[in-house]
Amino acid sequence: MKNAIIETELLCKSFISDGEINNVIKNMDLKIYDGDFTVIMGSSGSGKSTLLYALSGMDSVTTGKVLFEGEDITRLKEKQIAKLRKEKLGFVFQGINLIPNLNIYENILSPTYKTKAERKKIDEKIDMLLEKMDLTSQRKKFPNQMSGGQKQRAAICRALINEPKVVFADEPTGALNSSQGQNVLDIFTTINKEGQSVVMVTHDLKAALRGNRIIYLKDGRIDGELELEAFDEETATEREEVVYKFLKEKGW
Ligand SMILES: Nc1ncnc2c1ncn2[C@@H]1O[C@H](COP(=O)(O)OP(=O)(O)OP(=O)(O)O)[C@@H](O)[C@H]1O
Ligand SMILES: [Mg+2]
Repeated sequence: MKNAIIETELLCKSFISDGEINNVIKNMDLKIYDGDFTVIMGSSGSGKSTLLYALSGMDSVTTGKVLFEGEDITRLKEKQIAKLRKEKLGFVFQGINLIPNLNIYENILSPTYKTKAERKKIDEKIDMLLEKMDLTSQRKKFPNQMSGGQKQRAAICRALINEPKVVFADEPTGALNSSQGQNVLDIFTTINKEGQSVVMVTHDLKAALRGNRIIYLKDGRIDGELELEAFDEETATEREEVVYKFLKEKGW
């Protein structure tokens, strides 16, 4: 039996704009399993980003619960949520969100602890991540001096630096060319094989293949899901056919 690291109970999220209520997530019961690479898909506006924000405690919910390791995080105080986010969660946002007045090295360092003993290890890890993401030459640059793809990759380094239990990523390959996108996906696949859970929103079929579970959202509800074996490069072609068929049936 798989263990749910995150679980929602009757989760609802609504927005009010121009005096009208927009119910974006509707009574959702969802389990995210520990060690899974979960992919969330669905058409634009179906509620994917909103769901990711709710699952990760980045935004409040309207009603319902979000349990992280059994604890309802919708009831935590801001300080407790901030602690949870720093220690156990990593994020790659759709809008990137790098801190503009810090250079790339400082951006990646920003969510870490900075005791002297830890610092050397962290620095080594930053070097390793920068190298993997082809950003070594960019470490002193500020976000406004970098391309969209470079910023996206820097945001991924920052999300991974604390080795979070769960990495949330909202279209992490959106701003990248195909080979950069594959690099990022390879990193997610590797950290997932090493035990970290990944929850990724994507529109991209190649990215979706990396998941072992694909959840399809429609109008704020789960419209279907597909379970797969863990990703393996050797069976990628057959896997692509299965995923493509599932998505087509869902109207993707
Ligand atoms: N802060 C907000 N205030 C008001 N409405 C919002 C807010 N955030 C999202 N929405 C609305 O909620 C709905 C779902 O938005 P969401 O960003 O979750 O969609 P999505 O599935 O991530 O779409 P995309 O694929 O385009 O990123 C949309 O109708 C959007 O306009
Ligand atoms: Mg979105």
